[in-house]
Amino acid sequence: MRTTEFSGVAGVEVHDVDLNMELASGDITELQSALLRTHLLVFHEQDIDSIAQARFLSHFGQLKKQNGEPMVEYVSTSRPDDIAGPGRLLFHSDACFTTTPPYGSSLYPLKLSSNAPATMFANMETAFMRLPDAVKTRIMPLTAVNVFDETSRAEQYRIRKLDLRPEDQKLFPHATHPAVLHLPLSSSPVLFVSEHQTSHFVELDAEDGEELYQDLLSYIYTEDNIIVYEWQIGDLLVWNNLALQHARPAATDAFTRELRRIQLSSAS
Ligand SMILES: [Fe+2]
Repeated sequence: MRTTEFSGVAGVEVHDVDLNMELASGDITELQSALLRTHLLVFHEQDIDSIAQARFLSHFGQLKKQNGEPMVEYVSTSRPDDIAGPGRLLFHSDACFTTTPPYGSSLYPLKLSSNAPATMFANMETAFMRLPDAVKTRIMPLTAVNVFDETSRAEQYRIRKLDLRPEDQKLFPHATHPAVLHLPLSSSPVLFVSEHQTSHFVELDAEDGEELYQDLLSYIYTEDNIIVYEWQIGDLLVWNNLALQHARPAATDAFTRELRRIQLSSAS
């Protein structure tokens, strides 16, 4: 096995490995360290079922489970149990509107038409590092409310709801998180504000908070902080869901795409 830098934004590309085989412990340690450091692992030419995907992912934390089994989900244009719909998805970390968003995520494509949209990633550790010191100091003590709209499930617009009540949890699940998270295991600070799900800052009034929010976005979604990943059959991506946000651009034509998703609930 060997690894090379994938992109200046994030990630390593992993070569000469077959994820159907159990990896040597030294290789696992190297990949754990690479994920901690670069937040993204990129594999190609893998032919794996959900069991192999889950087994490999389990080297990086606790698998998200359902009824005692690894939870296997699909981002799919054809399956009725699709979790994401066909449209544009704004940048987000998965389930940051819950109190414990998943630590990590993996996607493995099963079907792709040649025009299937990419997955984009933005590095939130870099976004934090780029902030002017005065902004870092200002946001460090802040918390932000993150919201999802269960009434539409369309991740195409930001959900800004300043008047959420506990009884709104069912239709508008929401959770409050520090604006700056410290990653599990490494303690590296990351900006935890997204264009899709961050509604407002608890400690600021609506106007001041919105001005700060818009300012923060300008440090995140810059061309040199974004990866546009074009899928090929055989790829497997594993990433830190707290350190990288992901998104999907709008497609202009009908497309086929089916990705198998397995996630890590926590890092240990
Ligand atoms: Fe997502």
